[in-house]
Amino acid sequence: MSPKLLLVGGGRMGAALVGGLVAGGWADPASLAVLDTDPGARERIAASHPGVTVVAEPVVAEGVVLAVKPDVAEAACRSMMSAPPRRLLSVVAGLSTARLAAALPPGTAVVRAMPNTPALVGAGVSVISGGDTATSADLDWAESVLGSVGTVVRLPERYLDAVTGLSGSGPAYVFLVAEALIDAGVMAGLPPDVSRDLAIGTIAGAAKLLVESGDGPADLRAAVTSPAGTTAAGIRTLEFKAVRSAFIEAVAAATERSRQLGR
Ligand SMILES: NC(=O)c1ccc[n+]([C@@H]2O[C@H](COP(=O)([O-])OP(=O)(O)OC[C@H]3O[C@@H](n4cnc5c(N)ncnc54)[C@H](OP(=O)(O)O)[C@@H]3O)[C@@H](O)[C@H]2O)c1
Repeated sequence: MSPKLLLVGGGRMGAALVGGLVAGGWADPASLAVLDTDPGARERIAASHPGVTVVAEPVVAEGVVLAVKPDVAEAACRSMMSAPPRRLLSVVAGLSTARLAAALPPGTAVVRAMPNTPALVGAGVSVISGGDTATSADLDWAESVLGSVGTVVRLPERYLDAVTGLSGSGPAYVFLVAEALIDAGVMAGLPPDVSRDLAIGTIAGAAKLLVESGDGPADLRAAVTSPAGTTAAGIRTLEFKAVRSAFIEAVAAATERSRQLGR
């Protein structure tokens, strides 16, 4: 019997998806297959996910997830001519559904996604877009696959550069903020390990409060900003240093870079 899903590329994203799909009950290990050209990656998948079929050549499956680096993605699609998939979900950054479809057997339904790295711990946010031949059933299928590693939003493909600039690159912006806060705590006199724990705990706690309270970020910020208080002094400095504008420019620059790379 052919596997329910073949993951082409068993690296970081492919392995995270296998873990999420099995843990979330989307599939039992025996119904998943992973194709990777790297023997080391095949060994790692076999060791960490017993029961999953690991292959070095394409096999026919009900659906395929493409999780290889962008520079080899079209070649990986062409290699599937011998085992044509009915539908394919690509998590490859920057490669349009039209380019993927051109490298696949005619009629393959293509769904493109932009996940982000918190998917590696089951807390990703992914945007999916269907290509010309993808139906709502194909999008439902893609949403169920990526839903195993986080939340999924559907948008037309024209938004994907902006999505890349915001949620695709966004974790790196937050990590930069974490680095800066740790440095700032040390500069203010805290031991480095204490500063690290406090900065990371603050970011994680603030994100949880933002998600769980249902309140908007401006309301939550106002709630901790007493008139002439310490937070007001800190926020005034951030606004004076144009931090808000810096984030707007960062997302705009990443969006434009995504446009350039996709050409
Ligand atoms: N990591 C993330 O959090 C993240 C987030 C958003 C999007 N993505 C996208 O996800 C894709 C995969 O990223 P990743 O970080 O998981 O990459 P990765 O760790 O490099 O994994 C890709 C794996 O695929 C193998 N491979 C190369 N060519 C192949 C082929 N033709 N058939 C089968 N396997 C092949 C690679 O082997 P070699 O090492 O020998 O080449 C490697 O083991 C990328 O396109 C990236 O843009 C990743």
